[in-house]
Amino acid sequence: MSSSTLPLPNSATCPFGPPPEISAIRESASLPRVSCPTGIEAWLVTRYADVREVLGDPRRFSVRAGTAGHILANHPPDAPINPGEFPRMEGADHLRFRHALAPAISTAKRMTAIQPVVQRIVDDMLDELATRAQPVDLHEQFAKPVNSAVIAELLGVPASARELFLRGAESFFNGDADDLDAAKMPLYACLQDLIARRRTEPAEDALGILVGRREDFTDLELLITAVTLLFAGYDTTSSMISNATLALLADPVQFALLREDPAVVPGAVEEFVRQLGVGTGLLRIAETDTEIAGTPITAGDYIVVSVQGANHDPAQFSDPDRLDFRRDTREHLGFGFGPHRCVGQQLARLELTVVLSTLARRIPSLRLAVPFEEVTFKTGTPNTAPAPLPVAWDEIRPG
Ligand code: HEM
Repeated sequence: MSSSTLPLPNSATCPFGPPPEISAIRESASLPRVSCPTGIEAWLVTRYADVREVLGDPRRFSVRAGTAGHILANHPPDAPINPGEFPRMEGADHLRFRHALAPAISTAKRMTAIQPVVQRIVDDMLDELATRAQPVDLHEQFAKPVNSAVIAELLGVPASARELFLRGAESFFNGDADDLDAAKMPLYACLQDLIARRRTEPAEDALGILVGRREDFTDLELLITAVTLLFAGYDTTSSMISNATLALLADPVQFALLREDPAVVPGAVEEFVRQLGVGTGLLRIAETDTEIAGTPITAGDYIVVSVQGANHDPAQFSDPDRLDFRRDTREHLGFGFGPHRCVGQQLARLELTVVLSTLARRIPSLRLAVPFEEVTFKTGTPNTAPAPLPVAWDEIRPG
């Protein structure tokens, strides 16, 4: 197959699903080459079994070039790895961070503690939306600020610094290096302050737990770890909130299901992550001469695995393009697979569950303010999402 350019063009009828070209690529005998926005060429892997093989074998396929090194101009694949930038580390170096992070951000105890905080953030944001003129851009004015506030709360960043957090996350994804430099300084200063405080005042937030458990982490490692959580959790979750909301507004029957039976929501969340997660794939680099599904790969070659390709592979999921909240989604790859699978997945599930059930309960009249065909989608970050997402409603009910 000839070389294509990422991101592949999306379908006009389902622009937030996988590009239609993926189906043909999945069936072709050899892997295609793709040109990526950061200027590199890569092999594109789209079949479920092949994606799992690549993600599950870090000895052959390393993440050191950065998950999004094919997409983000300010994060090129040859950038040096910073201390604390654990998603680009392998083996013992990587595990040192993963082991420390588990109790800080993913245990059932942490999720129970943070659930009411997430609910309050969502309710406060809806109360504020109720005062604004309609239509409202739900992506910009709800999904992004809710999500950056949740990550700030997770880390223990005070509410007064939320704006700074949001701006820091935005600047990472808007591709403007000067903007990133300008936003970094106050963000770093705020986190440095917090880390210094956590060294002397223990606390049950993620930074407090990290400091308490691993006194051998340097301040710089803690700072970069915190920023990494913000950057890794920001575009993924806010895009998913907007994608899932649009999917519900485009399909009133499914939205009604959520309103009538809140117990459906966790299954819906998992199905949305399967169907709509991480549009432009994950980057790997071959550590050795090898092959993937019969295509020879040379050490140093880049590989992009298409998570959406895998999650829509009919060999793994029957009728994969159909939204089915009762589907068995256990083996989906929307949160990755292998040693680098998403460390924030429990938080993402919790946040999406709170957001979708609260939207269904408090704004049952929520609707698109433009015809579906007129919704435009952002490109340039690893996640596709409707941006802007213009919505309107009759009433926002009290929380
Ligand atoms: C729906 C929302 C989310 C989706 C779809 C998602 C998806 C993913 C995927 C596919 C990976 C694997 C990357 C790879 O193998 O190259 C990943 C890793 C990661 N995610 Fe998420 N994520 C989400 C939310 C979050 C949140 C809320 C956080 C943190 C607050 C987070 C933090 C991370 C980190 C730090 C990694 C790197 C883990 C490692 O390398 O060990 N993610 N995520």
